[in-house]
Amino acid sequence: MFLIIGHRGASGYEPENTLLSFRKALDQNADMIEMDIFKCKTGELVVIHDSTVDRTTNGKGKIQDLTFNELRALDAGKGEKIPALDEVLNMLNGKVKINLELKGEDTAQPVCDLIREHVNERRWKYNDFYISSFNHRLLQKFISFIPKNAAINICPLIYGIPIDLAELKTTLNAYSINISADFNDPDIIEEAHTHGMKVFVYVVNTAEEALKLQSLGIDGVFTDYPDRLQNLL
Ligand code: G3P
Ligand code: MG
Repeated sequence: MFLIIGHRGASGYEPENTLLSFRKALDQNADMIEMDIFKCKTGELVVIHDSTVDRTTNGKGKIQDLTFNELRALDAGKGEKIPALDEVLNMLNGKVKINLELKGEDTAQPVCDLIREHVNERRWKYNDFYISSFNHRLLQKFISFIPKNAAINICPLIYGIPIDLAELKTTLNAYSINISADFNDPDIIEEAHTHGMKVFVYVVNTAEEALKLQSLGIDGVFTDYPDRLQNLL
């Protein structure tokens, strides 16, 4: 199955990483929804892409220096608030696969704890979760907190072409590698598959490019416009 992954929701249509954007991605039948995770000053996990609020809200400052209440007072676009990860998980409640991209250094344990809570109390299953990061050591840390036999999928992000892909399989037991469209080298795709890893490509916003990548054998794409790719693949 070729996966259509809503990048920051359906961020081509609605403000990125907001409930509005995630609802839109769901309406557009995305198979998976991607979002970026930081921890704020008071410890809550929040969904936002940058380490500061400057670009995506009407506020200023670093996430780690702002309390949850301060963050919630900001406008993240169209009157939307910066979501808490907890409320996103409550809203989506197992209806779609979810890709949590760990951005903040201190997110590994609290994300793992929150997932466990939602799997125990709501409709989520461990294998609905796909955890990614450009920081592979953070993924290693994350793995150390996963409960035994919980089949959470680990998806290292790569910008560039690493020498050793096999190492990602052995050290992280990676489910996939998530690579940039700037480096969709056919050899790396084949090598990842040889080692039993899927290949997802970010960010692909035209049907033409998605079809081309599909013909190279990749397993899915991150897109800002999930509806554009729906009927073509
Ligand atoms: O996971 C794909 C993509 O989200 C990685 O880059 O900067 O959009 O978080 P970025
Ligand atoms: Mg991301």
